[in-house]
Amino acid sequence: MKDIFGKALLDYHQGNYTEDLITSTNISEEDELPLPYLFRTYKAMPKLEQKALKLAKGNVLDVGCGSGCHSLYLQEKGLNVKAIDVSPGAVEVAQQRGVKHVALLAVLEETQQFDTILLLMNGTGIFQDLSQVGTYLTHLKTLLNKQGQILIDSSDIAYMYEDDDGGLWVDTNADYYGELDYFLSYKNEDELPMKWLYMDFNTLYTACKAVGLNCDLVMEGEHFDYLAKLTLA
Ligand SMILES: C[S@@+](CC[C@H](N)C(=O)[O-])C[C@H]1O[C@@H](n2cnc3c(N)ncnc32)[C@H](O)[C@@H]1O
Repeated sequence: MKDIFGKALLDYHQGNYTEDLITSTNISEEDELPLPYLFRTYKAMPKLEQKALKLAKGNVLDVGCGSGCHSLYLQEKGLNVKAIDVSPGAVEVAQQRGVKHVALLAVLEETQQFDTILLLMNGTGIFQDLSQVGTYLTHLKTLLNKQGQILIDSSDIAYMYEDDDGGLWVDTNADYYGELDYFLSYKNEDELPMKWLYMDFNTLYTACKAVGLNCDLVMEGEHFDYLAKLTLA
């Protein structure tokens, strides 16, 4: 990883905002990811994220914290938050913005237990592909206190395969349609290609049941997105 994402966060945080991140996938054209969005306040967050923050309680783990926008809000509300990320730039920014407990750590390396685990802004993305979902969910289970909850958002991206007539062109012999190759660039530098997973609710539900987690639909968003709550079965 070249940490293009972290470099962009650092630039924005240090007042050097001149351009946005550019994203694209194997099934979609280039698109801008505005840096200010990665520093969004509670008011600017999608309803799904606001709902997740309202439900958060106890000791919280913010997985893939980015700039720390969710962690900072919960910290200010008096919750005890640990924020982790694999991006050195993100960790530095979250620290500098005042998140008290930040660690450069992949979620599979985390070992503490929590009352709430947050995975937000397509939280299933870090699972990378369907074959790894069981490994991630099984590990996340070990990080949950008895009455704990995992709050995770994702989207059903079947709509991205719609043609102009409203028909779907999903290749049913191919891998799961939510598995994408994701490309990120910033200031003419390309990040190494990543795998990024979107999961429709039913697929997440089935994967949760397979590892002994309950999976409840908390809320649906405006564009095929949803927030789910996972608890120990
Ligand atoms: C889409 S960004 C979301 C950032 C932040 N949660 C937000 O909503 O603005 C995903 C974040 O997850 C981090 N990440 C990716 N894989 C990870 C892993 N295995 N463990 C922890 N963090 C990870 C990335 O570095 C990135 O900061």
